[in-house]
Amino acid sequence: MYGLVNRALQSLVIQKLGRDSWREICEKVQIDEYGFVNFMPYPDSLTYELAAEAAKKMNLTLEQVLEAFGEHWILFTVDEGYGDLINICGSSFVEFLSNINSLHARIRLLHPSISPPKIICSDIQNNSLRIHYYSKRDGLAPMVVGLIKGLAKRFDTKVTIKVIQAKADGHDHDEFEVKFSCP
Ligand code: HEM
Repeated sequence: MYGLVNRALQSLVIQKLGRDSWREICEKVQIDEYGFVNFMPYPDSLTYELAAEAAKKMNLTLEQVLEAFGEHWILFTVDEGYGDLINICGSSFVEFLSNINSLHARIRLLHPSISPPKIICSDIQNNSLRIHYYSKRDGLAPMVVGLIKGLAKRFDTKVTIKVIQAKADGHDHDEFEVKFSCP
């Protein structure tokens, strides 16, 4: 994945545990602690390794770290200068969720080799919707849960998220039911 993703993980670890812990994680996976360039691709396996080491250090499961990472991503990308892009993608929780594919498509115009997921909203009601998450990658569904929670915070929206089906169980994509209440 792009360096931006690994840098977001770095930022989460430093925020929670401090720079020494990040340095130790980098030593473990044998990379330079300052080594990531935002829009340079790195092997997915490196991101998974970093997340697994971060989980050990934080005494969390991999799923819990991925969820925390997803939530952190929303704040991190604003700090990294994506605030304007985020603002034009929607002024409400539901509008934003419906525009994630075009957000990724805009980034892809500048960086053609990113390989973002496809996120489709269905069954949109006043207080609930379903999210379908398609990815060429495995194991990142907890990150999507964190992303949804991070977005909900951004829009002052309360959410509960239920897994309806999981790619890990042999389905072709993950599906979530999201119940929400806006302010
Ligand atoms: C806030 C602004 C956002 C930016 C700048 C952004 C950008 C990116 C980038 C650069 C990648 C890496 C792709 C690669 O290296 O091939 C990525 C991956 C991903 N994005 Fe976004 N994204 C944003 C918001 C979101 C949101 C709100 C969601 C979903 C609710 C989302 C879902 C994902 C997921 C799940 C991945 C992991 C890759 C995969 O599933 O295959 N992103 N995004």
